[in-house]
Amino acid sequence: MNNQAQPIGSELLAKKYLVTGGAGFIGTNIVIKLLSDGHKVRVLDNFSAGKKDDRIQKGVEYIEGDIRNMEDVKRAMVGIDGVFHLAAIPRVPYSIEHPIETNDNNVNGTLTLLVGARDAGVKRFVFSSSSSVYGGNDNEKLREDMCGNPISPYALHKYTGEMYCRLFSELYGFETVSLRYFNVYGPYIDPEGAYALVVGKFLKQRAKGEPMTICGDGEYYRDYTHVADVARANLLAMTSDKVGKGEVINAGYGQCKSVNELARLIGGETMNIPERPGDPRRSEADTTKAKELLGWEPTIKFEDGIAELKRDWGLE
Ligand SMILES: NC(=O)c1ccc[n+]([C@@H]2O[C@H](COP(=O)([O-])OP(=O)(O)OC[C@H]3O[C@@H](n4cnc5c(N)ncnc54)[C@H](O)[C@@H]3O)[C@@H](O)[C@H]2O)c1
Repeated sequence: MNNQAQPIGSELLAKKYLVTGGAGFIGTNIVIKLLSDGHKVRVLDNFSAGKKDDRIQKGVEYIEGDIRNMEDVKRAMVGIDGVFHLAAIPRVPYSIEHPIETNDNNVNGTLTLLVGARDAGVKRFVFSSSSSVYGGNDNEKLREDMCGNPISPYALHKYTGEMYCRLFSELYGFETVSLRYFNVYGPYIDPEGAYALVVGKFLKQRAKGEPMTICGDGEYYRDYTHVADVARANLLAMTSDKVGKGEVINAGYGQCKSVNELARLIGGETMNIPERPGDPRRSEADTTKAKELLGWEPTIKFEDGIAELKRDWGLE
Protein backbone atom coordinates (compact mmCIF):
# COMPACT_ATOMS: atom_id res chain seq x y z
CA MET A 1 0.00 0.00 0.00
CA ASN A 2 1.67 3.16 -1.16
CA ASN A 3 -0.42 6.14 -0.21
CA GLN A 4 2.50 8.35 0.71
CA ALA A 5 2.18 11.84 2.18
CA GLN A 6 2.05 14.50 -0.54
CA PRO A 7 3.93 17.77 -0.64
CA ILE A 8 1.78 20.86 -0.01
CA GLY A 9 0.11 22.15 -3.18
CA SER A 10 0.40 18.86 -5.08
CA GLU A 11 -3.40 18.44 -5.00
CA LEU A 12 -3.55 21.23 -7.59
CA LEU A 13 -1.76 18.94 -10.06
CA ALA A 14 -3.55 15.77 -9.00
CA LYS A 15 -5.63 14.10 -11.72
CA LYS A 16 -8.00 11.19 -11.85
CA TYR A 17 -6.76 8.36 -14.01
CA LEU A 18 -8.34 5.16 -15.25
CA VAL A 19 -6.07 2.12 -15.49
CA THR A 20 -7.62 -0.72 -17.49
CA GLY A 21 -6.09 -4.02 -16.50
CA GLY A 22 -5.00 -2.30 -13.29
CA ALA A 23 -5.16 -5.58 -11.37
CA GLY A 24 -2.54 -7.12 -13.68
CA PHE A 25 1.24 -7.17 -13.37
CA ILE A 26 2.19 -3.90 -15.08
CA GLY A 27 -1.13 -2.20 -14.23
CA THR A 28 -0.54 -2.72 -10.51
CA ASN A 29 2.86 -1.04 -10.77
CA ILE A 30 1.34 1.93 -12.64
CA VAL A 31 -1.43 2.22 -10.03
CA ILE A 32 1.19 2.31 -7.24
CA LYS A 33 3.22 4.95 -9.09
CA LEU A 34 0.10 7.11 -9.65
CA LEU A 35 -0.89 6.88 -6.00
CA SER A 36 2.58 7.76 -4.82
CA ASP A 37 2.50 10.83 -7.11
CA GLY A 38 -0.75 11.93 -5.43
CA HIS A 39 -3.27 11.08 -8.17
CA LYS A 40 -6.70 9.51 -7.82
CA VAL A 41 -7.02 6.14 -9.49
CA ARG A 42 -9.84 4.00 -10.83
CA VAL A 43 -9.26 0.51 -12.22
CA LEU A 44 -11.41 -1.35 -14.75
CA ASP A 45 -10.57 -5.04 -14.73
CA ASN A 46 -12.56 -8.22 -15.27
CA PHE A 47 -10.05 -10.21 -13.18
CA SER A 48 -9.82 -12.80 -15.97
CA ALA A 49 -6.12 -13.15 -15.12
CA GLY A 50 -7.03 -13.84 -11.48
CA LYS A 51 -7.71 -11.69 -8.45
CA LYS A 52 -4.56 -11.45 -6.36
CA ASP A 53 -4.97 -9.82 -2.95
CA ASP A 54 -1.48 -8.33 -2.84
CA ARG A 55 -2.17 -6.37 -6.04
CA ILE A 56 -5.25 -4.61 -4.62
CA GLN A 57 -4.26 -1.12 -3.50
CA LYS A 58 -5.94 0.86 -0.73
CA GLY A 59 -7.62 4.08 -1.91
CA VAL A 60 -8.24 2.83 -5.46
CA GLU A 61 -11.74 2.46 -6.88
CA TYR A 62 -11.97 -0.96 -8.55
CA ILE A 63 -14.71 -1.57 -11.10
CA GLU A 64 -15.13 -5.24 -11.95
CA GLY A 65 -16.14 -4.99 -15.58
CA ASP A 66 -15.17 -5.70 -19.16
CA ILE A 67 -13.51 -3.37 -21.66
CA ARG A 68 -15.77 -4.83 -24.39
CA ASN A 69 -18.91 -3.80 -22.53
CA MET A 70 -19.86 -0.19 -23.36
CA GLU A 71 -21.92 0.20 -20.17
CA ASP A 72 -18.92 -0.80 -18.02
CA VAL A 73 -16.70 1.49 -20.06
CA LYS A 74 -19.06 4.48 -19.74
CA ARG A 75 -19.22 4.00 -15.99
CA ALA A 76 -15.44 3.77 -15.77
CA MET A 77 -14.86 6.98 -17.81
CA VAL A 78 -16.90 9.38 -15.65
CA GLY A 79 -14.67 12.21 -14.36
CA ILE A 80 -11.48 10.73 -15.81
CA ASP A 81 -8.62 12.93 -17.08
CA GLY A 82 -6.54 10.23 -18.73
CA VAL A 83 -6.63 6.51 -19.52
CA PHE A 84 -3.78 4.03 -19.25
CA HIS A 85 -5.03 1.08 -21.31
CA LEU A 86 -3.37 -2.19 -20.30
CA ALA A 87 -6.25 -4.69 -20.23
CA ALA A 88 -5.55 -7.49 -22.71
CA ILE A 89 -4.97 -11.19 -23.04
CA PRO A 90 -1.24 -10.70 -23.48
CA ARG A 91 0.00 -14.15 -24.45
CA VAL A 92 1.43 -15.05 -27.86
CA PRO A 93 0.86 -18.85 -27.72
CA TYR A 94 -2.68 -18.43 -26.35
CA SER A 95 -3.52 -16.04 -29.20
CA ILE A 96 -2.30 -18.63 -31.72
CA GLU A 97 -4.61 -21.22 -30.16
CA HIS A 98 -7.54 -18.81 -29.64
CA PRO A 99 -7.41 -16.17 -32.38
CA ILE A 100 -11.11 -15.23 -32.26
CA GLU A 101 -11.41 -14.90 -28.47
CA THR A 102 -8.19 -12.90 -28.18
CA ASN A 103 -9.08 -10.66 -31.14
CA ASP A 104 -12.41 -9.85 -29.50
CA ASN A 105 -10.73 -9.04 -26.21
CA ASN A 106 -7.70 -7.17 -27.49
CA VAL A 107 -9.07 -5.38 -30.57
CA ASN A 108 -12.78 -4.85 -29.87
CA GLY A 109 -11.97 -4.04 -26.25
CA THR A 110 -9.50 -1.33 -27.30
CA LEU A 111 -11.96 0.13 -29.82
CA THR A 112 -14.77 0.21 -27.24
CA LEU A 113 -12.50 2.03 -24.80
CA LEU A 114 -11.38 4.56 -27.41
CA VAL A 115 -15.00 5.41 -28.25
CA GLY A 116 -15.92 5.59 -24.55
CA ALA A 117 -12.93 7.81 -23.72
CA ARG A 118 -13.55 10.10 -26.70
CA ASP A 119 -17.24 10.50 -25.82
CA ALA A 120 -16.49 11.18 -22.15
CA GLY A 121 -14.08 14.00 -23.06
CA VAL A 122 -11.01 12.24 -21.65
CA LYS A 123 -7.89 14.24 -22.48
CA ARG A 124 -5.35 11.53 -23.31
CA PHE A 125 -5.23 7.77 -23.89
CA VAL A 126 -1.97 5.86 -23.42
CA PHE A 127 -2.04 2.45 -25.08
CA SER A 128 0.13 -0.47 -23.97
CA SER A 129 1.50 -1.96 -27.17
CA SER A 130 4.21 -4.52 -27.66
CA SER A 131 7.55 -5.05 -29.37
CA SER A 132 5.98 -8.18 -30.87
CA VAL A 133 4.58 -5.82 -33.54
CA TYR A 134 8.07 -5.79 -35.13
CA GLY A 135 8.19 -9.54 -35.59
CA GLY A 136 11.89 -9.44 -34.62
CA ASN A 137 15.03 -8.45 -36.49
CA ASP A 138 18.20 -10.44 -35.91
CA ASN A 139 20.58 -7.74 -37.12
CA GLU A 140 19.45 -4.36 -35.89
CA LYS A 141 17.92 -2.56 -32.96
CA LEU A 142 14.19 -2.08 -33.45
CA ARG A 143 13.20 1.44 -34.46
CA GLU A 144 9.67 2.76 -34.63
CA ASP A 145 10.06 3.74 -38.30
CA MET A 146 10.65 0.09 -39.26
CA CYS A 147 7.73 -1.63 -40.89
CA GLY A 148 5.57 -3.70 -38.53
CA ASN A 149 5.61 -7.44 -39.25
CA PRO A 150 3.28 -9.23 -36.80
CA ILE A 151 3.90 -12.99 -36.72
CA SER A 152 1.17 -13.90 -34.19
CA PRO A 153 -2.46 -12.86 -33.69
CA TYR A 154 -1.45 -11.10 -30.45
CA ALA A 155 1.10 -8.95 -32.31
CA LEU A 156 -1.51 -8.11 -34.93
CA HIS A 157 -3.96 -7.07 -32.19
CA LYS A 158 -1.39 -4.68 -30.76
CA TYR A 159 -0.56 -3.29 -34.21
CA THR A 160 -4.26 -2.74 -34.87
CA GLY A 161 -4.64 -1.03 -31.47
CA GLU A 162 -1.83 1.38 -32.32
CA MET A 163 -3.44 2.20 -35.64
CA TYR A 164 -6.83 2.75 -34.04
CA CYS A 165 -5.19 5.14 -31.59
CA ARG A 166 -3.54 7.12 -34.38
CA LEU A 167 -6.78 7.15 -36.37
CA PHE A 168 -8.74 8.47 -33.38
CA SER A 169 -6.21 11.29 -33.02
CA GLU A 170 -6.51 12.13 -36.72
CA LEU A 171 -10.28 11.78 -37.05
CA TYR A 172 -11.47 13.15 -33.73
CA GLY A 173 -8.53 15.24 -32.48
CA PHE A 174 -8.39 12.92 -29.47
CA GLU A 175 -4.95 12.62 -27.81
CA THR A 176 -3.39 9.17 -27.98
CA VAL A 177 0.07 7.66 -27.69
CA SER A 178 1.23 4.04 -27.89
CA LEU A 179 4.14 2.59 -25.93
CA ARG A 180 5.77 -0.57 -27.23
CA TYR A 181 6.95 -2.59 -24.24
CA PHE A 182 9.65 -5.21 -24.55
CA ASN A 183 10.05 -8.00 -21.95
CA VAL A 184 8.82 -6.40 -18.77
CA TYR A 185 9.84 -7.89 -15.41
CA GLY A 186 9.80 -6.86 -11.76
CA PRO A 187 7.55 -6.90 -8.68
CA TYR A 188 4.10 -8.50 -9.09
CA ILE A 189 5.22 -10.52 -12.12
CA ASP A 190 2.92 -13.47 -12.71
CA PRO A 191 4.64 -16.82 -12.16
CA GLU A 192 1.54 -18.94 -12.84
CA GLY A 193 0.15 -20.79 -15.82
CA ALA A 194 1.34 -22.24 -19.10
CA TYR A 195 1.79 -18.74 -20.56
CA ALA A 196 3.63 -17.17 -17.64
CA LEU A 197 6.29 -14.64 -18.54
CA VAL A 198 9.73 -16.25 -18.61
CA VAL A 199 11.21 -14.36 -15.62
CA GLY A 200 8.24 -15.30 -13.39
CA LYS A 201 8.29 -18.88 -14.63
CA PHE A 202 12.00 -19.33 -13.88
CA LEU A 203 11.67 -17.78 -10.40
CA LYS A 204 8.84 -20.12 -9.55
CA GLN A 205 10.63 -23.19 -10.90
CA ARG A 206 13.79 -22.28 -9.02
CA ALA A 207 11.83 -21.64 -5.78
CA LYS A 208 10.22 -25.09 -6.09
CA GLY A 209 13.60 -26.74 -6.75
CA GLU A 210 12.57 -27.68 -10.31
CA PRO A 211 14.77 -27.19 -13.39
CA MET A 212 14.13 -23.97 -15.32
CA THR A 213 12.60 -24.93 -18.67
CA ILE A 214 14.36 -23.20 -21.56
CA CYS A 215 12.60 -23.14 -24.94
CA GLY A 216 14.81 -24.41 -27.79
CA ASP A 217 18.52 -23.70 -27.38
CA GLY A 218 17.88 -20.66 -25.14
CA GLU A 219 19.67 -18.37 -27.58
CA TYR A 220 16.66 -16.11 -27.73
CA TYR A 221 17.62 -12.53 -27.06
CA ARG A 222 15.19 -10.26 -25.25
CA ASP A 223 15.26 -6.66 -24.08
CA TYR A 224 14.33 -7.09 -20.42
CA THR A 225 12.87 -3.85 -19.04
CA HIS A 226 12.11 -3.21 -15.39
CA VAL A 227 8.47 -2.49 -14.65
CA ALA A 228 9.31 0.62 -12.61
CA ASP A 229 10.89 2.11 -15.74
CA VAL A 230 7.82 1.14 -17.75
CA ALA A 231 5.49 2.76 -15.20
CA ARG A 232 7.53 5.97 -15.40
CA ALA A 233 7.37 5.90 -19.22
CA ASN A 234 3.58 5.70 -18.94
CA LEU A 235 3.33 8.79 -16.74
CA LEU A 236 5.63 10.73 -19.07
CA ALA A 237 3.55 9.64 -22.08
CA MET A 238 0.47 10.96 -20.28
CA THR A 239 1.99 14.36 -19.55
CA SER A 240 4.57 15.15 -22.26
CA ASP A 241 3.53 18.06 -24.48
CA LYS A 242 5.50 16.55 -27.37
CA VAL A 243 3.06 13.68 -27.90
CA GLY A 244 -0.67 13.07 -28.26
CA LYS A 245 -1.10 12.51 -32.00
CA GLY A 246 -0.91 8.73 -32.05
CA GLU A 247 2.88 8.45 -31.78
CA VAL A 248 4.36 4.98 -31.34
CA ILE A 249 7.31 4.87 -28.94
CA ASN A 250 9.58 2.05 -27.77
CA ALA A 251 9.74 1.63 -24.00
CA GLY A 252 12.57 -0.91 -23.83
CA TYR A 253 15.91 -1.00 -22.01
CA GLY A 254 17.95 -0.87 -25.22
CA GLN A 255 20.14 -3.91 -24.61
CA CYS A 256 19.19 -7.54 -25.01
CA LYS A 257 20.16 -10.65 -23.04
CA SER A 258 19.67 -14.33 -23.86
CA VAL A 259 17.27 -16.61 -22.03
CA ASN A 260 20.36 -18.67 -21.11
CA GLU A 261 21.86 -15.57 -19.47
CA LEU A 262 18.65 -15.02 -17.51
CA ALA A 263 18.76 -18.62 -16.26
CA ARG A 264 22.42 -18.19 -15.31
CA LEU A 265 21.64 -15.07 -13.25
CA ILE A 266 18.78 -16.77 -11.44
CA GLY A 267 21.04 -19.79 -10.96
CA GLY A 268 20.12 -23.47 -10.73
CA GLU A 269 19.37 -26.42 -12.98
CA THR A 270 17.95 -26.00 -16.47
CA MET A 271 16.13 -28.26 -18.95
CA ASN A 272 15.58 -27.63 -22.67
CA ILE A 273 12.06 -28.03 -24.08
CA PRO A 274 10.73 -27.56 -27.67
CA GLU A 275 10.70 -23.99 -28.94
CA ARG A 276 7.44 -22.09 -29.39
CA PRO A 277 6.05 -20.83 -32.69
CA GLY A 278 5.61 -17.07 -33.07
CA ASP A 279 8.69 -16.14 -31.02
CA PRO A 280 11.31 -13.98 -32.78
CA ARG A 281 14.99 -14.81 -32.11
CA ARG A 282 16.04 -11.35 -31.12
CA SER A 283 14.30 -8.21 -29.96
CA GLU A 284 16.20 -5.10 -28.86
CA ALA A 285 14.86 -1.56 -28.58
CA ASP A 286 16.24 1.62 -30.03
CA THR A 287 15.28 4.12 -27.33
CA THR A 288 16.14 7.38 -29.15
CA LYS A 289 12.52 8.39 -29.72
CA ALA A 290 11.51 7.82 -26.09
CA LYS A 291 14.36 10.06 -25.00
CA GLU A 292 13.46 12.79 -27.49
CA LEU A 293 9.70 12.86 -26.99
CA LEU A 294 9.30 11.77 -23.37
CA GLY A 295 12.67 12.56 -21.85
CA TRP A 296 12.61 8.91 -20.74
CA GLU A 297 15.58 6.67 -20.21
CA PRO A 298 15.51 3.34 -18.41
CA THR A 299 17.49 3.31 -15.19
CA ILE A 300 17.39 -0.22 -13.77
CA LYS A 301 20.06 -2.63 -15.00
CA PHE A 302 18.99 -6.19 -15.74
CA GLU A 303 21.46 -7.70 -13.26
CA ASP A 304 20.19 -5.38 -10.48
CA GLY A 305 16.52 -5.99 -11.28
CA ILE A 306 16.97 -9.77 -11.25
CA ALA A 307 19.00 -9.61 -8.01
CA GLU A 308 16.15 -7.61 -6.39
CA LEU A 309 13.58 -10.20 -7.53
CA LYS A 310 15.74 -13.03 -6.19
CA ARG A 311 15.85 -11.30 -2.81
CA ASP A 312 12.05 -10.85 -2.89
CA TRP A 313 11.68 -14.55 -3.63
CA GLY A 314 14.18 -15.60 -0.96
CA LEU A 315 16.51 -17.09 -3.59
CA GLU A 316 19.83 -15.74 -2.38
N1 LIG B 1 4.38 -8.12 -19.60
C1 LIG B 1 5.06 -7.82 -20.70
O1 LIG B 1 6.25 -8.13 -20.83
C2 LIG B 1 4.39 -7.05 -21.83
C3 LIG B 1 5.10 -6.81 -23.01
C4 LIG B 1 4.50 -6.10 -24.04
C5 LIG B 1 3.22 -5.61 -23.88
N2 LIG B 1 2.53 -5.85 -22.73
C6 LIG B 1 1.17 -5.32 -22.62
O2 LIG B 1 1.02 -4.69 -21.35
C7 LIG B 1 -0.30 -4.87 -20.87
C8 LIG B 1 -0.26 -5.44 -19.45
O3 LIG B 1 0.43 -6.67 -19.47
P1 LIG B 1 0.60 -7.55 -18.14
O4 LIG B 1 1.82 -8.35 -18.30
O5 LIG B 1 0.46 -6.68 -16.95
O6 LIG B 1 -0.65 -8.54 -18.25
P2 LIG B 1 -1.61 -9.13 -17.12
O7 LIG B 1 -2.28 -10.33 -17.72
O8 LIG B 1 -0.90 -9.29 -15.84
O9 LIG B 1 -2.69 -7.97 -16.95
C9 LIG B 1 -3.76 -7.77 -17.85
C10 LIG B 1 -4.98 -7.43 -17.02
O10 LIG B 1 -6.07 -7.15 -17.93
C11 LIG B 1 -7.25 -7.75 -17.40
N3 LIG B 1 -8.17 -7.98 -18.54
C12 LIG B 1 -7.97 -8.84 -19.57
N4 LIG B 1 -9.02 -8.77 -20.41
C13 LIG B 1 -9.89 -7.86 -19.89
C14 LIG B 1 -11.16 -7.38 -20.29
N5 LIG B 1 -11.76 -7.83 -21.40
N6 LIG B 1 -11.76 -6.44 -19.54
C15 LIG B 1 -11.18 -5.98 -18.40
N7 LIG B 1 -9.98 -6.42 -17.96
C16 LIG B 1 -9.35 -7.35 -18.70
C17 LIG B 1 -6.78 -9.02 -16.72
O11 LIG B 1 -7.70 -9.47 -15.73
C18 LIG B 1 -5.45 -8.57 -16.10
O12 LIG B 1 -5.63 -8.08 -14.77
C19 LIG B 1 -1.01 -5.76 -21.87
O13 LIG B 1 -1.78 -4.95 -22.74
C20 LIG B 1 0.12 -6.42 -22.62
O14 LIG B 1 -0.26 -6.77 -23.94
C21 LIG B 1 3.08 -6.56 -21.70
